[in-house]
Amino acid sequence: MRTNFVCGNWKMNTTRASAIALAEACVVASRQTPSVRVGIAPPAIWLSDVAATIAGSSVALFAQNGHPAASGAFTGESSYAMLKEAGAIGLLVGHSERRQLFGETDAVVATKVAAARALGLEVILCVGETLEERDGGTTLQVVNRQVDAGLAEIATLDGITIAYEPVWAIGTGRNATAAQAQEVHAAIRSRLAIRFGAQAAAVVIQYGGSVKPETAASLLAESDVDGALVGGASLDSAAFGSIIAAGAL
Ligand code: 13P
Repeated sequence: MRTNFVCGNWKMNTTRASAIALAEACVVASRQTPSVRVGIAPPAIWLSDVAATIAGSSVALFAQNGHPAASGAFTGESSYAMLKEAGAIGLLVGHSERRQLFGETDAVVATKVAAARALGLEVILCVGETLEERDGGTTLQVVNRQVDAGLAEIATLDGITIAYEPVWAIGTGRNATAAQAQEVHAAIRSRLAIRFGAQAAAVVIQYGGSVKPETAASLLAESDVDGALVGGASLDSAAFGSIIAAGAL
């Protein structure tokens, strides 16, 4: 009923040439595994080049960030309309690096989600607890708060994907176990059902945090894990291809 969705978040990596080469490999991987939806989120500056590279394929192009205002005096920012014109069909919102390093609050995240949906852009809303929060036993509380707040200004779940990314698992080589991921994914789906009813059953919930070819299959085998948001391993086309293939198992 839900299609597995594997998306690569390239973060601030790649050159123009390596981004194009990686995008070409993603097109091949996506053709080889047509039952899995494949997405990539390159740095904004390469969006147009990558859009041209993946044209005609089913690879979905996402931006990593954008500014929700239509235009104006926001030095260094890209509007959602600009991202769209460069070829993005959606963007990540609320990534823990944006929250922690760039001070994005739940309120900012809510504004960004609503502005993106108003323009017809898909949103991958990222949520996740810190190690301190997990150890303190507040994981579900934190994640529920982020989900509620992030979606506060929208009326339906159309165009929304949720990515559960425990902060302690990002870039650390330490991923959540499949059981830990399943527990939180199921809790997120129940939480979504409170406000959005039956739509919650159709929402894709990705897991993110040190997903590797060796761990992807067990994570994706969980009933509420519908894909992966992949950082480091998405920069290696063979590894990313294996993770995509794991989504078809
Ligand atoms: P890693 O896969 O490098 O841990 O990054 C996960 C992530 O933050 C994806 O958005």
